[in-house]
Amino acid sequence: MIRSVVRGTGAALPRRIMKNADFEGMVETSDEWIAQRTGIRQRHIAGDDETTASLGEAAARAALANAGLTPADIDLIVLATSTPNNTFPATAVEIQNRLGMHHGFAFDLQAVCSGFVYAVATADLYIRGGLAKRVLVIGSETFSRILDWSDRSTCVLFGDGAGALVLEAGEGTGSIADRGVLAASLRSDGAHKDKLFVDGGPSTTGTVGQLRMEGREVFKHAVGMITDVIEATFSQAGISADDLDWFVPHQANKRIIDASARKLGIAEQKVVVTVDLHGNTSAASVPLALAVAVADGRIKKGDLVLLEAMGGGFTWGAVLVRW
Ligand code: ACO
Repeated sequence: MIRSVVRGTGAALPRRIMKNADFEGMVETSDEWIAQRTGIRQRHIAGDDETTASLGEAAARAALANAGLTPADIDLIVLATSTPNNTFPATAVEIQNRLGMHHGFAFDLQAVCSGFVYAVATADLYIRGGLAKRVLVIGSETFSRILDWSDRSTCVLFGDGAGALVLEAGEGTGSIADRGVLAASLRSDGAHKDKLFVDGGPSTTGTVGQLRMEGREVFKHAVGMITDVIEATFSQAGISADDLDWFVPHQANKRIIDASARKLGIAEQKVVVTVDLHGNTSAASVPLALAVAVADGRIKKGDLVLLEAMGGGFTWGAVLVRW
């Protein structure tokens, strides 16, 4: 059977780093509050010349170089983002053009922080359905552009960045020992819209809007939703937490990550944490964390890796990959 195998990873971050202490003169907050409540110590913030398209392009080029491929080898780009350069055309198509790619096809996928998990599951179906052989899956965000910089309960949490994977069609036997995407479980429930949303849009206000979040409410639901969808993925694959080599969760809050891992019985040393370095980069958080753990030698060929995310909508999901 066809499997979607990871061939390369890459990442890109804006030049400017903003430390927790940099907020102290802007809103009533402290480095101590932010670090203790979230685990975040710094985040990257895009400059005027850095956009979702430029960061996505840079991450894509890094992933292609890591894979030993060129844009000519790719036939689909799936970009997970909630902060596109324009309402349309899709930023994925802009990245396609920036890469000098005038063949194949590209589209954006919008599932907020779960976007990258949705995008990997989607790319896997395109590959297994025979519509694409090699796919660039990108998560790229510039949440700094939709933050209310006077709201301390949200502005300290988010950062900008991009990460990418190259997925390639490979042969598998259909067993859990195969390399590639092995199982996926996706969920959404629009009943939770008001807990995390952007208060503008083309069809309502005609403006871009700003992010609004009831953090405590999101927190309350997060661990249960995350662990449910992971347990569904485990049972689909016939594995348990002990079989995992690495857990790469969405990087929103260290306390949510720790509580989820504890509830699932995933050992602390198997959890990849980058929220301290990047903050919450929404759809970019999982591929950025993957790129870090691949580059530093933790994630190796043959490892069983679980990706997970939860975000606005609510949307949530998990994907199991043998590297
Ligand atoms: N600095 C200092 N104090 C603050 C700050 C700040 N930056 N922000 C809020 N506070 C205050 C609040 O006003 C509140 O004060 P009060 O008790 O006088 O009302 C107090 O701190 C406690 O606030 P809580 O909201 O209860 O703090 P909590 O421990 O829940 O932490 C946080 C807040 C970090 C937002 C947490 O709830 C969280 O991480 N929620 C989940 C966010 C998330 O996971 N989002 C995921 C998806 S993101 C996406 O999809 C785009």
